[in-house]
Amino acid sequence: MTEARKNALIVGASRGLGLGLVETFLARGWAVTATQRSPSAGLAALASDALSIETADIDDDGAVAALHDRLANQRYDLIFVVAGVATQAHDPAHDVPRDVAAQVYLTNAISPIRFAELFRDRLAGNGLIAFMSSILGSVALNESGGWETYRASKAALNTLAISFEIRHRDEGFGVLLLHPGWVRTEMGGEEADIDVTTSVTGLTDVIEARLGKTGIAYLDYTGATLAW
Ligand SMILES: NC(=O)c1ccc[n+]([C@@H]2O[C@H](COP(=O)([O-])OP(=O)(O)OC[C@H]3O[C@@H](n4cnc5c(N)ncnc54)[C@H](OP(=O)(O)O)[C@@H]3O)[C@@H](O)[C@H]2O)c1
Repeated sequence: MTEARKNALIVGASRGLGLGLVETFLARGWAVTATQRSPSAGLAALASDALSIETADIDDDGAVAALHDRLANQRYDLIFVVAGVATQAHDPAHDVPRDVAAQVYLTNAISPIRFAELFRDRLAGNGLIAFMSSILGSVALNESGGWETYRASKAALNTLAISFEIRHRDEGFGVLLLHPGWVRTEMGGEEADIDVTTSVTGLTDVIEARLGKTGIAYLDYTGATLAW
């Protein structure tokens, strides 16, 4: 008997790491639902029977609720919220306008958790909910400063994900907070350490190894555990 095809929902997949993850999961035989905010040429180029493309902005509660309705009949082995922003990340927190800092927090911490809270009923039994965190979200590993509002937003995401996992511990799914490495994307920049393929290959290996496991883990793309 052949194993049933795994099913992933990748949220924030128009470009960068999200797009790379879609490509990698498809290559490994998964069926993928990928979300974009506006038409993505990268996603369109991956068109196949195994890929379904949806549109939603994670900051828009109405759009997220409509997406939840459209996907009522789907059950996912993995729901991975990849979307994130780094607006004015190079400015110290006191130099970032309040509304800009607040939006980074909303997009990187609040919206992913709200998405997970709503979509956890779309998980298959023993499914995984993954959030794209960052090593910059580690309070313990902050020895260089910088990226202040971004760091704070990812630390907030980590904290909220721990509480989310505790709240739903008896529901049978696992939670992952993942650091992709410092990756050459629009956000990571050209000087970053690794390319998208290296990062998403590692992330996909880490996710496949965690399938069926419950609890929460904060891991990088090599599978190493990070300090909170
Ligand atoms: N690159 C790195 O070195 C690095 C390191 C650690 C963590 N990360 C994290 O990895 C994730 C992906 O980063 P990346 O490097 O691939 O960045 P990127 O190239 O800038 O891509 C960001 C992605 O997030 C989407 N997005 C942003 N706001 C959204 C919203 N409100 N709703 C839905 N989608 C939204 C973007 O969609 P649009 O195309 O519509 O803008 C795009 O697909 C982020 O969470 C980032 O914080 C990256």
